[in-house]
Amino acid sequence: MSQVKKPPMATRNYRPETRLVHGGTLRSDFGETSEALFLTQGFVYESAEQCEARFKGEESGFLYSRFSNPTVAMFERRMIELEGAEAARSTATGMAAVTTAILAPLKAGDHVVAAKALFGSCRYVVEDLLPRYGIESTLVDGLDLDQWQKAMRPNTKTCFLESPTNPTLDVLDIGAIAGIAHKGGARLVVDNVFATPIWQSPLTLGADVVVYSATKHIDGQGRCLGGVILSSEQFINDHIHTFLRQTGPSMSPFNAWVLLKGLETLAIRVKQQTDTAALVAEALAGHPKISRLIYPGRADHPQAALVKKQMRAGSTLVGFEVKGGKAAAFRTLNALKLSRISNNLGDAKSLVTHPATTTHQRLTPEARAELGIGEGFIRFSAGLEHADDVIADLTDALAQA
Ligand SMILES: Cc1ncc(COP(=O)(O)O)c(C=O)c1O
Repeated sequence: MSQVKKPPMATRNYRPETRLVHGGTLRSDFGETSEALFLTQGFVYESAEQCEARFKGEESGFLYSRFSNPTVAMFERRMIELEGAEAARSTATGMAAVTTAILAPLKAGDHVVAAKALFGSCRYVVEDLLPRYGIESTLVDGLDLDQWQKAMRPNTKTCFLESPTNPTLDVLDIGAIAGIAHKGGARLVVDNVFATPIWQSPLTLGADVVVYSATKHIDGQGRCLGGVILSSEQFINDHIHTFLRQTGPSMSPFNAWVLLKGLETLAIRVKQQTDTAALVAEALAGHPKISRLIYPGRADHPQAALVKKQMRAGSTLVGFEVKGGKAAAFRTLNALKLSRISNNLGDAKSLVTHPATTTHQRLTPEARAELGIGEGFIRFSAGLEHADDVIADLTDALAQA
């Protein structure tokens, strides 16, 4: 890029922790230590000829922050370095990333296969939105490879899943599902929010596209929304760049700057939160007020062998079903003094969610039951507090369930 004297810092030879601190840094002539915040809508040109050359793509450089901005470019480059992708584009929210990754490459007459166990808004996009534009979709039990296989049609262009799933923390076989998608001529898009880039790398497992809600662990301190799509140069150029440029769900430079600073501490936060989640799972397993506990780092997780194969560690989230349904779950939530009631996750503050009345309230009770989201189910997202305080808070609250 002509305005930046040095190319963005390439960090592929370093370990992920190092990439998170240095990857993609574009240092200006002032030699600033911290990444600069280019809070500007647009850019000015030396001459009309230069402006024309930029628009024709004959000269590289920034044009307009709806689709190119140095701070946003640094965030994208750092994510590329971390994920091992060829290219990335960021978006205003995680849902803008999911919607764009799925919708942008498709046209009427195409078909999508997706796992049933999806965050409520992702399921809305696949189940309700796509068919309105002539794109059919089939929802399958993501754990059942036969169902993926049987759902494939000659016009299937995209398969979509999240793993671990929100909120029941099922772990889907990304390599096997990528194999089925590719055999049928389709691409696999993976929402990697629950695993985080620290514990799972879908592109190396065979996926073609990875999406994140950067709102979650990447910010990790509850400040701003954001999303990112990572894939091959060709996929981004052919399907994503023009869609985002012309339709405009862009990430603001300010949010990109916050997220860049979030990335610097991502690894230490996720490791600490995972340790706490594991301790919470250990403390709550077998608790008399709980009928079911699910944590991907435990040997009793239904897909424990797959967790070992495709993830580098468990998760920052724990799911558990309180005996006594909604009333008991609400009593537990209302009795908590430290963990806060929220529909968010991945924050420095421990958060608890009642999916049946929040993130998954759109689904019918039957659809929720099919996914294992009972009326007593609680999703716990570990924060950065001391694990002993968090566990004491949860066990005190459960005593009142
Ligand atoms: C798995 C998953 N995907 C996507 C999203 C959407 O992200 P955002 O809230 O940033 O739009 C969320 C949460 O909101 C989520 O949990």
